[in-house]
Amino acid sequence: MTEVTPVKIGIVGLGGIARGQHIPGYLMSEGVELTAFCDANEDVLKDMGERYGVSHLTTDYRELVALDEVDAVSVCTWPDTHHPVTMAAIEQGKHVFCEKPLALTYPLAHEMYQAAEEAGLETAIGFSHRLTPAAHLAYHLINSGDLGTIYQVVAVYSSGGGDFASRPMSPRLTRATNGGGPLFELGTHMVDMVRWWTGLEITSLCAQHRTFVPRRQWSDTGEWAQVDVEDASNVIADLEGGATAVFMHSRAVTGRNFDQRVEVYGSEGALLYDQARPYELRACIGEDMVRLCADYGMYDPRWGQYRVEEPYPVIPAPTEYLDAVPGARAGRAVRTLAPAFVQAIRGRRPYILPGFYEGMRAQEVLDAAVLSAEERRWVDLPL
Ligand SMILES: NC(=O)c1ccc[n+]([C@@H]2O[C@H](COP(=O)([O-])OP(=O)(O)OC[C@H]3O[C@@H](n4cnc5c(N)ncnc54)[C@H](O)[C@@H]3O)[C@@H](O)[C@H]2O)c1
Repeated sequence: MTEVTPVKIGIVGLGGIARGQHIPGYLMSEGVELTAFCDANEDVLKDMGERYGVSHLTTDYRELVALDEVDAVSVCTWPDTHHPVTMAAIEQGKHVFCEKPLALTYPLAHEMYQAAEEAGLETAIGFSHRLTPAAHLAYHLINSGDLGTIYQVVAVYSSGGGDFASRPMSPRLTRATNGGGPLFELGTHMVDMVRWWTGLEITSLCAQHRTFVPRRQWSDTGEWAQVDVEDASNVIADLEGGATAVFMHSRAVTGRNFDQRVEVYGSEGALLYDQARPYELRACIGEDMVRLCADYGMYDPRWGQYRVEEPYPVIPAPTEYLDAVPGARAGRAVRTLAPAFVQAIRGRRPYILPGFYEGMRAQEVLDAAVLSAEERRWVDLPL
């Protein structure tokens, strides 16, 4: 049996995304050791250190990235620290998996990309929705050319719940910490998804931003604060080659919870993706639709060509896409890019893994949208 050289990981920020995606992803990867943890909160640090048997514990990320024992760093803090932590890690020669959005601004994201390139390091960014089996299938359908020339894309990623209006103030509602509102938190995923699926860059866009609740109260001090990020972002965009796209990102869609849908219409076919149905797509692909569904081994003649309640027939995601998401078939999927990042470090970078280049390109679109909304005009890209 060949011995696998261990990849030693340090994690900065031990909150939701580290616990839900990064740590489980590393633990399920062969030959990976969780070597060092950093969190600004000492109680969290101690608790997580004990839970995972990690002995290098620090509240200072500079200490973690300087450890010889660490080969790669996961940056799982809020966006305002992505740039300093990543740059420090790159300076120390560490591979970096940074959460989205890559940075607060496009120039900072560009610096991160360039530094990693120059240092010859592997990078990843947490565009984890690429792993949703239906999204993976959409990528292959579009890239096989089955939809023909892409005409129109509609992408929605919004949330609201029942208490949008009454929520307290939060650092996530500040530009200083988060860079932006739902455009940055949710929209960055969709900009990546559209770029990835279609292979087309956005060449121009026009954005409309609205803050419906401009003042919120800090729950600890009771003080009122001005919200300086948008509650909703609508963007219309030109894509290379003449296609058009519409994006809607919001935190104010009452009663909805992480509603993520994309529709793609091309000259030969169309597809409808819905995160709520992560293991299947609805697709209509010209006269070849039946053949295509049969190719995937999933066509069920009982459904007929069109069902009234579902405009297009269903194509379940093939097994290999389910296998890319550990636990998908058991219904408790862990959608984590960490194993793909480890493979990249081992010299076998998977095509599905987005890096800092993709993070930077998405960031450029976010910056362009902010500029467009502020100045109420179309903005051309590249910036
Ligand atoms: N890929 C996805 O689908 C996805 C989902 C959720 C969140 N995220 C992203 O992950 C990042 C973190 O989000 P989260 O929900 O895990 O936040 P969180 O608040 O749950 O955790 C952040 C942790 O970072 C720590 N921290 C803050 N500043 C620090 C510093 N300077 N040094 C060390 N530790 C520090 C905090 O104490 C906290 O434990 C954000 O960028 C967010 O957008 C991505």
